[in-house]
Amino acid sequence: MEPWKRSPLPWLLLLSPLLLLSRSSSDPCILLDEEGENCFCNFSTPEPEWNSITMCISSKEVAIHGGGHNLDVFLQQGGAADPSKAADVLRALGLRRLKVKEAQVPALLLYQLLRALTYTRIQELTLEDLVISHPPLPPPSPTDRDLSLRALHLRRVSLAGEGNFPVSIVPWLKPGLKALSLTGLGLSNVPCPDLGTFKELNSLDLSDNPEIRESGLTSAACPKEFQALKDLELRNTSLQSLEGVCRGLEAMGTNVRRLDISYNELRDTAGTQCTWPPTLLSLNLSHAKLQSVPASLPKKLQQLVLSYNLLEKKPELPQVTDLILEGNPFTSCNVTDKSQGEQAPESCWLSSGGIRSVSTPCVLQASGTAALALLRGVRAFS
Ligand SMILES: *[C@@H]1O[C@H](CO)[C@@H](O)[C@H](O)[C@H]1NC(C)=O
Ligand SMILES: *[C@@H]1O[C@H](CO)[C@@H](O)[C@H](O)[C@H]1NC(C)=O
Ligand SMILES: *[C@@H]1O[C@H](CO)[C@@H](O)[C@H](O)[C@H]1NC(C)=O
Ligand SMILES: *[C@@H]1O[C@H](CO)[C@@H](O)[C@H](O)[C@H]1NC(C)=O
Repeated sequence: MEPWKRSPLPWLLLLSPLLLLSRSSSDPCILLDEEGENCFCNFSTPEPEWNSITMCISSKEVAIHGGGHNLDVFLQQGGAADPSKAADVLRALGLRRLKVKEAQVPALLLYQLLRALTYTRIQELTLEDLVISHPPLPPPSPTDRDLSLRALHLRRVSLAGEGNFPVSIVPWLKPGLKALSLTGLGLSNVPCPDLGTFKELNSLDLSDNPEIRESGLTSAACPKEFQALKDLELRNTSLQSLEGVCRGLEAMGTNVRRLDISYNELRDTAGTQCTWPPTLLSLNLSHAKLQSVPASLPKKLQQLVLSYNLLEKKPELPQVTDLILEGNPFTSCNVTDKSQGEQAPESCWLSSGGIRSVSTPCVLQASGTAALALLRGVRAFS
């Protein structure tokens, strides 16, 4: 018998005697490529075949859609399995990235999953649309191994009842973390000093937390804790002014290179007293309801995204090498393919006067490729 059958383990939420059930032909899990490196499971049916997950046993990348099921059943059937008994098997797994989505997960099961993952070589964990029932999530015990993730993404994960999920998972993380997303979690500020141990963090995404506002940035009680941060995303966080954002960055003491504050209704406050980080090269002001180009822009920008605003005329920003303007009233077309050398579509004209001007590209990208390549290199996990 194969070793993982002999010793049923809690890896990948599968814990359990269920593994030993016979397989059906309508497997919810499929391998997405010939090498079997990507495995996807959709357990949305009312009585899913959970054991189908064994299909993913040698995959590097595994995505599990729980179909909103309550996973209490695994605790009842699996008991409190000890992953150290299966250490060799877990170590042999190819697993590098795991995504678990849409389920109600008892805290103890999540605890077992995290413990099991400490034996694997996983690098990236994504938990999305989960409700963690029966909290609290226990912290790791002193004898537990480290969960040395490089990236953790939490999107819309909540604890049943009161409690703060990001705070309860922090004890599981180690300082080597490079990328962290805490999106749609109802955060009202930058969650530090809880995050203070992540000296190597270079990408932080706090988008879709409309309670943050500028006050949540400026109140960040962790100056100088984000020294390595290069990439900061604050989409849809109720930010209102560039000046306030600039002050927030000052308070955080970061030297970011890329700042994404799209989906915030920004108004400009001219004559800012605040100095942007000199490192800031890329600013995303897409979907910000801007009627004119803000005056208080960082000085050394290479990339500026002003797409989907209310600009009536084409702005002149000679210093910006990569200026993205699609979806403004002064262009009548929305170009999404920004690849260099692409022809602007024929239907592209300046709306003022309605004169057709095929030669005017809606996306102006003068020699922005180098800057883009540089910036992409910085974004380790996007
Ligand atoms: C999962 O399966 C359900 C039907 O069982 C389907 O409606 C849904 O779109 C599928 N989800 C994904 C992400 O494939
Ligand atoms: C902003 O975030 C809230 C809360 O997460 C979400 O409900 C809303 O859809 C988001 N808005 C946009 C434009 O993404
Ligand atoms: C800017 O933000 C918009 C909206 O969030 C996004 O669709 C777009 O990809 C971003 N552009 C860049 C260059 O990051
Ligand atoms: C361009 O985008 C805007 C806003 O998203 C939309 O209302 C409009 O219909 C789009 N125009 C074209 C030509 O696709």
